[in-house]
Amino acid sequence: MKQSVKSLITKKQLREPITWLTCYDYSLASALNHTELDMILVGDSGGMTVLGYSDTVPVSMEEMLVLTKAVRRGAPEKFIVGDMPKGSYEESNRIAIENAMRFVKEAGCDAIKLEGSGVMVERIKAISSCGIPTFGHLGLTPQTSSQFGGYRVVGRTSEEANQLLGDAIMIQEAGAFGLLLEATPPKLAETVTQEIDILCMGIGAGIKTDGQLLILHDLLGLFPSFRPKFAKCYVPEIMGEFVAALEEKSDLVQFGKDTRLDGLYQLAILSVNAFINDVQKRAFPTPSFTYSAQSP
Ligand code: KIV
Repeated sequence: MKQSVKSLITKKQLREPITWLTCYDYSLASALNHTELDMILVGDSGGMTVLGYSDTVPVSMEEMLVLTKAVRRGAPEKFIVGDMPKGSYEESNRIAIENAMRFVKEAGCDAIKLEGSGVMVERIKAISSCGIPTFGHLGLTPQTSSQFGGYRVVGRTSEEANQLLGDAIMIQEAGAFGLLLEATPPKLAETVTQEIDILCMGIGAGIKTDGQLLILHDLLGLFPSFRPKFAKCYVPEIMGEFVAALEEKSDLVQFGKDTRLDGLYQLAILSVNAFINDVQKRAFPTPSFTYSAQSP
């Protein structure tokens, strides 16, 4: 069943953890379409994982649309959130609405996400008042991280924690239906999750949010350049199951020809299912994938 804003909010109310992964291409999107995953984010992290930029800043709107359209073709049954790239929403409400509409009309997105607070709360209000479901993003915000001390945990001081909680409430009041917290101390993420009625998803924000987002390339171990503390690669865990399934087949070549479930596609489905299972049981993230309240 394809999720909707309403069904996702119901999941929060029922305390059923929500599963969310990034994706940037047709083949992996089609693998995700075969799972019970709740949502896909076509993240601007695709600028790094598939386009090879050193950070997310250079990714353009046109590049994001190419990636997002491919994901929509591969995953027609998934709730897809398009990530507004740097430069596509900051300048004015009009530009923000125009680009958000492109994600919906040209790429078939169900929602969009943008980073930040302050004037960005105005952008969230403008976009959501045009009927486009909007996700905020607080904590570590990679598009502007250089202004805030680089890639680091945000919310360890009481000043930062209070600011983040206040921003989360403003984002809810602006009409967003969800908020993503990235690299935030778990206790703060838990408080924000309890204080807001909209979705509060986490990536590197501990186990008590309404659900978990992970970068697909981290989950599959496909991005060797960098792996943050919160990123878990699931391939080692499911490798035994994959090998055992292949060993059962007497004619692997024929099996591959008949089913195409003899390679990376099947490995991806098994790994994603292990992630979904862990999140649904609240078994991920464990402390080794969670930031401490103070710096180590
Ligand atoms: O682009 C992305 O994948 C993101 C996550 C890093 C949160 O925004």
